[in-house]
Amino acid sequence: MKIDGTHYRTIWVADDGWSVGVIDQTKLPHEFRTLRLASADDAARAIKGMVVRGAPLIGATAAYGICLAMREDCSDAALHEAYSDLAATRPTAINLKWALDVMVEALRDESGHERIAAAYACAAKICNDDVEICRQIGVQGLSLIRGIAEMKPDKVVNVLTHCNAGWLACVDWGTALAPIYMAHDAGYPVHVWVDETRPRNQGASLTAFELGRHGVPHTIIPDNAGGHLMQHGQVDLCVVGTDRTTARGDVANKIGTYLKALAAYDNDVPFYVALPHTTIDWTLDDGVAEIPIEQRSPHEVTHMTGRSDTGEIVTVEISAPGSSAANYGFDVTPARLVTGLITERGVAPATREGLLALYPERKHG
Ligand code: MRU
Repeated sequence: MKIDGTHYRTIWVADDGWSVGVIDQTKLPHEFRTLRLASADDAARAIKGMVVRGAPLIGATAAYGICLAMREDCSDAALHEAYSDLAATRPTAINLKWALDVMVEALRDESGHERIAAAYACAAKICNDDVEICRQIGVQGLSLIRGIAEMKPDKVVNVLTHCNAGWLACVDWGTALAPIYMAHDAGYPVHVWVDETRPRNQGASLTAFELGRHGVPHTIIPDNAGGHLMQHGQVDLCVVGTDRTTARGDVANKIGTYLKALAAYDNDVPFYVALPHTTIDWTLDDGVAEIPIEQRSPHEVTHMTGRSDTGEIVTVEISAPGSSAANYGFDVTPARLVTGLITERGVAPATREGLLALYPERKHG
């Protein structure tokens, strides 16, 4: 996607041919700054500190983390150490483990300089594949938006989304936002209700930023507003992303997604989840019981960061000193509340059978 006319991916190999460039998402929307990752530790810190975030981008960054580790020491011991350090950075998004496993498999029979070259080739393929997969998700999801647009000619299609599942969360395009970009580019009148997504405000800071840069009409709403809008017919469909979806279609996504799904169910609003196959955890069934939920610092709840009237970036405390806070990063929406899963291979019911119909190669484990 473009920032001020320049095409960016969220991650790239720098001009030196080995270090890795990323967009520092902790600075958005107030400042567009890129960062250079020069070691596996840099990559791990970028993931843990949410310089990069979003399940597909976390996986891509971990893949390049392995490349950077191999440059320093391409032994098996170094590979395994980098694997465990990177795997420990964030617990919920399964793309992290998926990408690390793909890298280890690609490097298994390589050594020396060939191993380093194989690492960079594999990380590049993970990124290129992610771009194409997200584009396909866009094509599949576009047909849903087109269907609604055709049912209400000359009226705006209102889509509600939560957190950021746009190009900033992936390598390009995004998951939940890819169909929206395609619908907008095809001339359908789309408007997006953007949940602010407390406490990290990925909606207000990132989703609104990227929609705005692409010219897609949108409105930021407090996280509590979605139910009211749905009751008043102002949401045609919800589309969210996911950090891990189980084999039976339970969906882990940013905290607050479950409440939107409940409101959508109560108001007969279709609730779709967009995901690449790399986000499906075929080893799990019951998402509520089995998906590990990241707990983050209470400081993210008790404090907020933003730009002051004088242009400075400031952090302020919003609660009484001494109040304790809980900060669960994700929740799980049971499959029964999900209208459909938008994947690169088509839109499936959120059931084991639905997913297996799209991924028949998974029928035997
Ligand atoms: O904590 P984050 O910002 O990494 O969480 C990301 C999300 O939960 C997104 O909503 C998401 O859909 C998954 S990434 C496409």
